[in-house]
Amino acid sequence: MRILVTAGPTREYIDDVRFISNPSSGRMGYLVAAEASRRGHDVHLLSGPVCLESPEGVRLSPFESVDDLYELCAGCLEETDCIVMAAAVGDWKPAARASGKRRKSDLLTLELVGTRDVLASLAPAKGGRVFVGFAMEVETPVENALRKAVVKSMDFIVVNGPASFGAEKAVFTFVFPDGRTKVLGEVRKAHLAGLILDEAEALFRGRVGD
Ligand code: CTP
Repeated sequence: MRILVTAGPTREYIDDVRFISNPSSGRMGYLVAAEASRRGHDVHLLSGPVCLESPEGVRLSPFESVDDLYELCAGCLEETDCIVMAAAVGDWKPAARASGKRRKSDLLTLELVGTRDVLASLAPAKGGRVFVGFAMEVETPVENALRKAVVKSMDFIVVNGPASFGAEKAVFTFVFPDGRTKVLGEVRKAHLAGLILDEAEALFRGRVGD
């Protein structure tokens, strides 16, 4: 399978020296990319700014902003069978990026606008590709994740809670767009990477019919 994995945080610049981001370490996406490469898949990893080494045998392309990430994904879609969207995509960006460095006295209110939804934007061109998403949910996790899976044409979404941030293991559930769930319980992220690929491989096999 030709797998596109996205990992890590996005950055939206306020001026040339400041940005809005999030604390994603990128670990989950890197684990999926490493395991997929180990299994012999053709792996392209799109990475936000993280402190991780590129897994062996993986092609790596960096991104910073949500628009960069979208352009990379859209440009690779043709040559992709499966997208694992583990990037922690920021939801807002400054309405305008200032050049240089804004003085602190100039900027007491920051106007934000929404970012593009990458998966939702790719959904109309999805075809037979497998889309896997992630959601960190605090309240009504399955209901929220199900809504996202349906709206963004995902084949399944990996749901976890905030305790998962930076942790080695956490409690995960797969939610499918028809409402089915697979409760995995507490698993190590390295093991989860394999479970995600098992599911994606089975879906892909079902589509290509072998
Ligand atoms: N995602 C995306 N583009 C965005 C935001 C999220 O492609 N602008 C992807 C994420 O990579 C993830 C999935 O969509 O795989 C769900 O992300 P999440 O942040 O949980 O959902 P949102 O739609 O942003 O909803 P909210 O922040 O309101 O919970």
